This record gives sequence, C-alpha cells and structure tokens, in this order.
Amino acid sequence: MTRREWLRQAACSVVTAGIPALLRAEPREQNADPAAITGAGSLKAHATARGLLTGAAVNTQLLRTDPKYREVLTQQYSIVVGENCMKFGPTQPKPDSYDFNDADSLVSFAEANNIKVRGHNFVWHEALPDWFAGTATKENAKKLLVDHIMTVGSRYRGKIHSWDVVNEAIWIQDGRPDGLRSSSPWFELIGPEYLDLAFRTARQADPNALLTYNDYGIENDSETETRKRAAVFDLLKRMKASGTPIDALGVQAHLDAASTNSFNKGTRELRDGARHLGLQVFITELDVKDDGLDDDDPATRDREVAAVYRSFVGRMLEGKEVKAVLTWGVSDAHSWLNGKRWKVKHPNRSQRPLPFDDQYLPKPVFFALRDSFDEAKRR
Ligand code: XIL
Repeated sequence: MTRREWLRQAACSVVTAGIPALLRAEPREQNADPAAITGAGSLKAHATARGLLTGAAVNTQLLRTDPKYREVLTQQYSIVVGENCMKFGPTQPKPDSYDFNDADSLVSFAEANNIKVRGHNFVWHEALPDWFAGTATKENAKKLLVDHIMTVGSRYRGKIHSWDVVNEAIWIQDGRPDGLRSSSPWFELIGPEYLDLAFRTARQADPNALLTYNDYGIENDSETETRKRAAVFDLLKRMKASGTPIDALGVQAHLDAASTNSFNKGTRELRDGARHLGLQVFITELDVKDDGLDDDDPATRDREVAAVYRSFVGRMLEGKEVKAVLTWGVSDAHSWLNGKRWKVKHPNRSQRPLPFDDQYLPKPVFFALRDSFDEAKRR
C-alpha cells in the first residue's frame, strides 16, 4: 500500500469510528447534529478528559463582529492565542506608544469564558512596525527589546498560560553552523545573545507564564526538517546549559497534505528531545494545506487533510510532554492559507485546512482531532 492509499483508508476509518450513525452519512456537514459536537462532544471536553488543552488562533476583528465565532470559541476551546494582536507591530505601532485594544479584547473575552491565553509573540523577524527599520540601531536594540517585553509582558502578567518569547530563530539557509537566522533584524542588531536576553526579560515580566521557543518545519521525517529540528534542539540545549529560563517548545505544525513525508522519526525526536531537556511541548499553529492535492472534490481533500491531522497529532500525543494542541484558526473561511501566497497550484480553489467549514459546521478534521484526543494517554 502506498502512503497515500494508507492515509485515505485511515482517514475513512478514523472519521467514522466511534461516531453515531446519524453523523456518518455523507456529506457529514449537512447531517451533523450540533448537539453531538458541543458540551460532552466538544473538542475541549475530549481534550480535558486526557489532561490536554485544545485551542485556536483568534482573529480579534471577528471576535468583535461575529457572534457565531464567539459561540464556537466558547464551546470548543480551553485555550486561545491571538493570530496577530499581540505581535510587536500591532502592540507598539509607534516607538513611544502602545495599542492594547485588540490584545485586551482577547484577554478579557478569554477571562470571561474561563479560557486560557497563549501570548504570541515577543521577538520575531516579521510583524515589526514600520518605524522599526529607521529607528532601531546596534546602540538601542537591546533597550527596544527589553522595553517591549517588559511593557507587554507586565500588562498581562498572571493572565498568560505561555508566551512565545522567540519565534522562528532558526533558518538553515542563512548558512551559519549553529543554524541561527542571521538575517533577522534582532540578530543583526544584537547578535546571538538576543535570545537569552529575551527569555530572561520575559521571565521578569511574567514569572508564571511558560516561556516557549516556537518554530516551524521541524515536524516530519524529511532530511530538511531533520536538520532544522536538530538545530532547534542544539539551540535549546545551549540555552538550558547556560541557565536561560525556558519551559517549552512550540511546534507550529503548518503541514501539507500533498507531502509524502511521514511523522515517525520526526515526532519521536520532538518528544524525546523535549523530555530530555525537561521541556513541555505545545502544538501551536496546526493547519494542513491542500493546495497541492489534485483532486477537486472537497470531500476527498477533507479526508486527506483529516488523515494528516490524525497521523501527526496521534504520533505527537504518544508523548505525555505534549500538553496542548492549537489550530491556526477555526474556520476555513478565515484561514491565512486562503491568502494568495499559499494558493499556488490551485489559485481559484479555497483551501480547507481547519476543523470547521465556512458555516462553522464540523469537518472530518474536527473528528480526527477528537479521535486523536480519545486515543491519547491521560497526562
Ligand atoms: C500569520 C497570520 O496568520 C497572518 O494573518 C499574518 O498576516 C502573518 O502571520 N507563523 C507564525 C504566525 O508564527 O504568527 C503566522 O501568522 C503564521 C506563521
């Protein structure tokens, strides 16, 4: 059996196993009984039963305007993360002034609904405000970094489950032996010690948040991802050894249904590597592209996408160090993967990477997630 055939078969059995007959008829979307997917049937009920958190990235514009969106968030998730609202650019639009409107709205929504919040993120080479390039220098960069983390981190002190302190610091293509992204403005201005400074400052700003290093392209068994994964662990090892405060590894998991790479060695190395360093693991930005799949039938693509979720999440949850699973969005309608940049092979076709469709009805991905939680050991 080829991997593709296996995936297809697994997806079919996965999405039907354990689901009431009422929900089994195709297409699932039209027949889904809403009662069966909320309350005891929700993602968060199934995750909580295993000691897991489950969540999604939140678009604060939708949070304000779409009651159905708010309803799904409160019904399904025990943790949320701002898709953009806590990044450097949005929170510090001018050198001397901060804007917390969107981030505050997320945190108060979460508090009111007993949902935890991930902070994303303090230090990244992207999402920097327009003023940054013209203002930041080698002389003031450390102060800019420290002031930003202290200001944003202290504002939400005690309210954040975990902060992505540094995002995507490894970029093998830059050619350094340690794999650090030397093209990041933070590296250019401060050098490799920007990472330690960011983590130490974050600990001071919010001593109870779990401090996380977050990266992508480190999940599968390919040579490329194995190399990047190794560089990430070398970095984490160095930080641990020098006493940098770090508690968790964030595995973004932007996956691709058209990829033939599997998740055996990759997920095992992530779990084992984190366990040896005493780090928790969070799946922070899970979604699965289907642009590369040739089949135009949405039901077929949904099954393939669900099979990737099932295989990746299933393998990850074999390790008790994996504590949280968050998708990068809720409904396909608002996924960042429906931006032009990600629709290359099929520019006129919508991608279907998330657990809910554009009507907020559950898709096979929803059931794949729930089944993966059910199968996991209690942690
Ligand atoms: C993305 C958002 O989803 C988009 O809305 C935004 O335009 C760009 O950033 N890795 C990350 C996230 O850590 O912050 C990115 O989010 C997706 C990739």
